Amino acid sequence: MGMKRGVLVVLGLVMVANLAMVANGDDNNDKIVSKTVKGKKVCTHGWECTYYSSYCCNQTISEIFESYQFEDLFSKRNSPVAKAVGFWDYKSFITASVMFQPLGFGTTGGKLMQMKEIAAFLGHVGAKTSCGYGVATGGPLAWGLCYNRELSPMQSYCDNYYKLTYPCTPGAEYYGRGALPIYWNYNYGATGEALKVNLLDHPEYIEQNATLAFQAAIWRWMTRIKKSQPSAHEAFVGTWKPTKNDTLAKRYPGFGATMNLLYGDSVCGKGDVDEMNVIISHYQYYLDLIGIGREQAGPHEVLTCAEQGLFNPPTPAVPAQSSS
Ligand SMILES: *[C@@H]1O[C@H](CO)[C@@H](O)[C@H](O)[C@H]1NC(C)=O
Ligand SMILES: *[C@@H]1O[C@H](CO)[C@@H](O)[C@H](O)[C@H]1NC(C)=O
Ligand SMILES: *[C@@H]1O[C@H](CO)[C@@H](O)[C@H](O)[C@H]1NC(C)=O
Repeated sequence: MGMKRGVLVVLGLVMVANLAMVANGDDNNDKIVSKTVKGKKVCTHGWECTYYSSYCCNQTISEIFESYQFEDLFSKRNSPVAKAVGFWDYKSFITASVMFQPLGFGTTGGKLMQMKEIAAFLGHVGAKTSCGYGVATGGPLAWGLCYNRELSPMQSYCDNYYKLTYPCTPGAEYYGRGALPIYWNYNYGATGEALKVNLLDHPEYIEQNATLAFQAAIWRWMTRIKKSQPSAHEAFVGTWKPTKNDTLAKRYPGFGATMNLLYGDSVCGKGDVDEMNVIISHYQYYLDLIGIGREQAGPHEVLTCAEQGLFNPPTPAVPAQSSS
């Protein structure tokens, strides 16, 4: 009797100790260390924001966007009919974001803007990885992160125009993979260069590693494709100031401009088309689910790109290289 009681007490202590460790882990992440550089306050912030930056003085992503919210947004991704069961998870998203939080991803402008940016980025991701069309349960918007790769590619997406910079590796297939799917050798090449991973030889890494897949997507969101243009991130959070030409072409900072930058004429400048509306719907749905509310998305002209002139007007196709 007395013995048993002793064992129980010991077990109880172990459990309390474990809880304390979890709590301490969180405390460490809460810890903001700040200093002033040239009159500007910069901080580090736990394991998510690891080098001195003004963005790290704000809350980190995991402080404002928790695991249960990720589960709400992507509630059907692990149901038996989904195509990437067990692949995507919250931890991969947060781990991937660590590279970009000190640069302002999800850490710019205060809590409302931070949450809006997370909803916007994930709205793109959800729309591009959904298998919800025609699937009834939960509605079409509940099926984001259903895929991690294109299932029936019609081609290898090897463009020999880039054979000097990003030559195709024999046997490698550059079909769509990831959270904002990457297609073509040159896109795998550029992404791999930026993330220091050999994606030209190993494009399959993207469908094997959710952290890498999210990293590639966040990199795309954070990166200017042309010097003269903003990144999707800059266009969304409003650190981009449109030129007169931009304004004439109805390109305003906001969600619409991010679609223009990421997809160009496949989505934008074509009026009220489904390809565009499905992306907007995911963004609005996620704003509702995380408690911000879709009305925070702002007026129609910043939300859509239906009437926007393209950042990159289509150029005449590169003539196919003759092999004869
Ligand atoms: C951090 O958040 C505050 C509001 O809480 C905001 O005013 C500020 O711009 C943010 N810092 C950066 C670098 O975006
Ligand atoms: C997955 O990718 C991340 C980020 O690039 C990397 O740190 C990690 O080692 C990779 N995991 C595996 C199992 O290769
Ligand atoms: C603005 O648009 C005009 C007409 O399309 C063009 O000639 C000019 O180069 C543009 N200016 C800038 C700064 O892009």
